[in-house]
Amino acid sequence: MKTIILKKQVIKIFLKFGLSKEHASISANALINAELVGAYGHGLSRLKMYCDRISKKVINPKPKIKVKKISQSLSHVDANNSIGFVAADVGIKTAINHAQKTGIGMVAIKGSGHYGLSGYYAEQAVKKNLITMIYTNAPPAVAPHGALKSLFGTNPICFGAPTGTKIPFILDTSISMINRGKIRVAARNNQKIPEGVALDKFGKPTNDAKKALAGVQLPIAGFRGSGLAWMVDILSGVITGGNHAGRVKDPFDDFSGPQNIGHLFITFKSNLFQKNYKQRIHDNIRTIKKLPKIKGIKEIMYPGQNKFLRYKKNLNKEIYIPSIIKKDLKDLIS
Ligand SMILES: NC(=O)c1ccc[n+]([C@@H]2O[C@H](COP(=O)([O-])OP(=O)(O)OC[C@H]3O[C@@H](n4cnc5c(N)ncnc54)[C@H](O)[C@@H]3O)[C@@H](O)[C@H]2O)c1
Repeated sequence: MKTIILKKQVIKIFLKFGLSKEHASISANALINAELVGAYGHGLSRLKMYCDRISKKVINPKPKIKVKKISQSLSHVDANNSIGFVAADVGIKTAINHAQKTGIGMVAIKGSGHYGLSGYYAEQAVKKNLITMIYTNAPPAVAPHGALKSLFGTNPICFGAPTGTKIPFILDTSISMINRGKIRVAARNNQKIPEGVALDKFGKPTNDAKKALAGVQLPIAGFRGSGLAWMVDILSGVITGGNHAGRVKDPFDDFSGPQNIGHLFITFKSNLFQKNYKQRIHDNIRTIKKLPKIKGIKEIMYPGQNKFLRYKKNLNKEIYIPSIIKKDLKDLIS
């Protein structure tokens, strides 16, 4: 389906579920961007979930978002249980604004929900020549190192830096071996997941997506990944006023209340300490890319390059919609 037609359909659906025109458009853009960068687990496969949460009154379609300015650089946002895309849009825009005025911006958000891809917001800051760090927590999926039970979310860690080219440096990674969205898509399509990424509920390795969802996802790099997940929970949950310590509700399965996810957006000017940042980042990337390559590798890529190239390639193509999602769209629009 053509991107523009799909976007109109998604906006129509969000409007039907009570979002304002502006919020419907912000949310549709974020979902379609996920499809274009190939992050299908965070795209249209989640549309029904957001609508279900609005219907069950655990996402507020008409939130009264409060932005409390603490200083010229700091704001604290209460998103009033808005859809996560809208809270994150306020967060990144406010953080960019602070950084442009004072050199640095930091925005903490509570009362939000799942906002999709951290990199989508990082890109907006990097386009304004800012360095950025973005954190969000998520529902339990990963067991803390040494624990028998999932508690941490796949808590993505996101860093962005301008490169002086059109392709931003964006490291945007879950702390789990693979992200939960990919497992959900595999479960819906009856596909296997790779070995070594999850255990079933009895603690046995599994490549069955449904068993993995009922079990435990494995963190990257053992206790190091577990530690990173923990710090993301502190940065996005403990300090913001959002839920933390495993209390973020699963958006698909738990309608007993709002998720109250927390996010943290940090942005700062890239030339705060060295005026010739552009020259230095060019030198940095060029030096790394010139290293001898191992067999089979054509180019040493920096994080974000692959997603940008996928986006460019997909932008002029029609978006492929699996039949299961076509059905969601049809049901939601009627
Ligand atoms: N909102 C949430 O609750 C939530 C939770 C988890 C993940 N997510 C999102 O899901 C998305 C996918 O996460 P993921 O962990 O599957 O990402 P991924 O494994 O696809 O990529 C991780 C990072 O590695 C980089 N990368 C990939 N291949 C590379 C290569 N060959 N050379 C250099 N760099 C390379 C990517 O550009 C990216 O920055 C992210 O955007 C994340 O924000 C959201």
